[in-house]
Amino acid sequence: MKLTTVLLVFGVVLSVCQAQSDTGGEETGGEEEHVELFTTPTAKMAAATSDFGYNLFRALASREAATNIFLAPISVSAALTQLSMGGSERAEQQLFRALRYHTLQDPQLHTTLKNLLASVRTPGKGLSTAARIYLARRLRLKQDFFGLVEQQYGIRPKALQGGTKDVKEINDWVTQETGGKVQRLLTKALSRNAGVNAVSAAYFKGKWVTRFGQNGVMENFQVDGGVPVRVSMMKQDNYPVKMGADSDLSCTIAQIQMQDDISMFIFLPDEVTANMTLLEESLTAEFVQDLSMTLLPTQVSLSLPTLRLSYSSDLLPLLSDLGLSEWLDNPDLEKISAQAAKLVSLNHKVVMETAPEGNQYPSATSAASHLSYTVDRPFLYLIRDEASGALLFIGRVVNPKDLRI
Ligand SMILES: *[C@@H]1O[C@H](CO)[C@@H](O)[C@H](O)[C@H]1NC(C)=O
Repeated sequence: MKLTTVLLVFGVVLSVCQAQSDTGGEETGGEEEHVELFTTPTAKMAAATSDFGYNLFRALASREAATNIFLAPISVSAALTQLSMGGSERAEQQLFRALRYHTLQDPQLHTTLKNLLASVRTPGKGLSTAARIYLARRLRLKQDFFGLVEQQYGIRPKALQGGTKDVKEINDWVTQETGGKVQRLLTKALSRNAGVNAVSAAYFKGKWVTRFGQNGVMENFQVDGGVPVRVSMMKQDNYPVKMGADSDLSCTIAQIQMQDDISMFIFLPDEVTANMTLLEESLTAEFVQDLSMTLLPTQVSLSLPTLRLSYSSDLLPLLSDLGLSEWLDNPDLEKISAQAAKLVSLNHKVVMETAPEGNQYPSATSAASHLSYTVDRPFLYLIRDEASGALLFIGRVVNPKDLRI
């Protein structure tokens, strides 16, 4: 996907032409200079986990057409990477391919991931995550695996007794790791012949740089093929964003800065539609990195639904969409057990909140913004760590009315 189609309209055409010629003239001629976007091991790892995340999101989005869906893919990467340590070399390769690690050529892969996870979880960023492997005790587990994962990731896999106590144990651990925010990850007992279960969860508290002056304004949100619903909006004039319109994807994109080098990208289709297939297909780490360098700063009158949401799903079926059908049948978890062990669940739960607060006030110019960006119809958004480029959170909102924690 080329960014040459991103052009700002909105009557600021002159400054746009200026900016585009300043940024290297990709517009002129056919010969494209290939710029290596991701250079450090951390940036490459961030791009790999993001690409896995976009693939996982696409898989979920196509199975759950036209519904609200949310993921914190980096925590799923973390859980599956822990699991990869229990597999044969061949099984590890299969998992690494799905996780997009096969291009990294990073001998310190686990350390790079561990450091990336630590950096995106620094408290100011507002993200907490949990990822752990739970194993049925009846598998006669190899103790070395527990030590291996604990030594690398500081989280010890856990043997399960079988029964209702397991559910409480897992849920309590996730709740504790997410500061009490993600509760009841499991709502029913694990399957009786439970083999290997991978659990991942995340809580994200969005902290804007620029605060919203108005909150809880009830406005119409036009859902696809239905009557408008009333939703609570945050609103602010003269709000600094970066913005661009993509004519190929028929959407306008805004990047809103959050504290500690996090940002939210919103992809707002021009039309009211819950079918965002085209947009979903275009998402890659490279595409979003390009966007972050192409969108142009401006000030808008911004209206954004107040998002408070909780979403959970067993992502296991999606793995076959990511090329892991063969692995699912035979994951070769020889370092976990001499018996044939399979992954039987990949439970994932996310909670996200946004509030109008921010640590800065918008500029107090007397004239109101000429441009407005009103998120009053189905949209996609993602939360990205700008320092590393890692995708932290991704969601499709088709009806905010259905969202609750
Ligand atoms: C969604 O849009 C794509 C193209 O943008 C189209 O191919 C597909 O059929 C649409 N899906 C539905 C369910 O309408």
